[in-house]
Amino acid sequence: MTEKKATLKVDGHEALELSVYTPTLGQEVVDVSPLAAKGLFTFDPGFQSTASCDSTITYIDGGKGQLLHRGYSIEELASKSDYMEVCYALLNGELPNAEQKAEFVQEIKARAEVPEQLKAVFNGFTRDAHPMGVLLGALGALSTYHHEGLDINNAEHRKEVALNLVAKLPTLSAMCYKHSIGEDFVAPNAELSHAENFLTMLFGGTNSEYQVSPVVAQAMDRIFILHADHEQNASTSTVRMAGSSGANPYAAIAAGVATLWGPAHGGANEAVLKMLDEIGDVSNIDKFIAKAKDRNDPFKLMGFGHRVYKNYDPRASVMRESCHQVLGELGIQDPKLELAMKLEEIALNDEYFVERKLFPNVDFYSGIVLKALGIPVSMFTVIFALSRTVGWIAHWEELIGNPYRIARPRQLYTGSDERAFVEIDKR
Ligand code: SDX
Repeated sequence: MTEKKATLKVDGHEALELSVYTPTLGQEVVDVSPLAAKGLFTFDPGFQSTASCDSTITYIDGGKGQLLHRGYSIEELASKSDYMEVCYALLNGELPNAEQKAEFVQEIKARAEVPEQLKAVFNGFTRDAHPMGVLLGALGALSTYHHEGLDINNAEHRKEVALNLVAKLPTLSAMCYKHSIGEDFVAPNAELSHAENFLTMLFGGTNSEYQVSPVVAQAMDRIFILHADHEQNASTSTVRMAGSSGANPYAAIAAGVATLWGPAHGGANEAVLKMLDEIGDVSNIDKFIAKAKDRNDPFKLMGFGHRVYKNYDPRASVMRESCHQVLGELGIQDPKLELAMKLEEIALNDEYFVERKLFPNVDFYSGIVLKALGIPVSMFTVIFALSRTVGWIAHWEELIGNPYRIARPRQLYTGSDERAFVEIDKR
């Protein structure tokens, strides 16, 4: 990072010279860390203007609608690669050659099973428990199987954590679904690809003749790729924050799952389908657009807008293309797709959305594809979490594998000045 300088002049304080670092791509950053020693903090609720770390994993250009993983564009990865290759690249920095890929795939397959006793955890949840809450609990349980003896300062231990999580998330995710429908768990099958195995654990069963269609498996794998990582989003930042205290990495990933669950984040894919259900018909679109624009109405157009993208989310473009391809190949006519496309068309021509640069994000079309693949709406965010685990753990590795300090933000205190305690009979 080459250094330029910035000078900060604050009334009542001496002028401060701060370093400015130049990135490979994107915005320059001002190093404000010396401010605390000078009695000053920066103030940036929501971290709109804050770079929390330096990272080599993913780059997003919100203005261009560009997304790179280790320098490779999401468009090329989605069309030419597969999720196992993307996992390898996110974890190791480069796309694998054939030999490296074969070895990596085997390492993942070898870790797909979960501890037998852990399966009992699922009995603690009602059938209608939200699968994200169940996944959260299962990950908390998994952390206890990998705690004593885990040395996060040992690179080999950290590699094992990454392989274990990428391997076990599909199994745990499928178990969440099987539990919700009261069916037996289906064991992982090493003969199948990552996506085929997940779909079989989801829809297969001891008496089932379920056969994964290549179209569905490829679409599932593409969805895994599109959700794999996205720089310092809320859930990834949570994983880094938890990791910075030296917390158990499985527990840190559970914290990421908790954050992703929110409808403003990964929960949006489920919320989009519910919104389309609520809109119901093209004739109601204007009413909902008006609600979305009304400051006094908490309703937001789910699947629209993004903190970083002020252009089309490149993942949404790939997802929309996938929608047409999957529905076409499966011969599915889903009125929700027409409704979504009409909604998009109207919103993209409405001044309110244009002025605020609100475009469809990854969640806008993903639900329609997932529904076409037979995935129940309640499992949409679980699949987002399954896919994103590799990104979370890649960022955890980048943090723990380099010198780091505990993340401890400060605040602008606006509470009461010091005051004397008052006995209760005098209050
Ligand atoms: C993901 O960070 C990531 O990278 C996340 C993610 C990833 O891969 O990890 O990309 C995944 O979380 C995608 C986003 C999914 N969420 C949704 O689709 C929920 C709907 N979107 C909004 O809640 C919102 O757009 C956010 C949360 C995504 C972004 O919120 P910001 O950056 O805080 O933006 P904002 O709320 O300050 O909005 C700016 C303006 C406001 O209006 P004004 O105050 O200027 O009048 O735009 C309006 C907002 O009211 N606005 C919307 C809107 N999104 C923003 N108005 C209506 N509908 C919307 N969807």
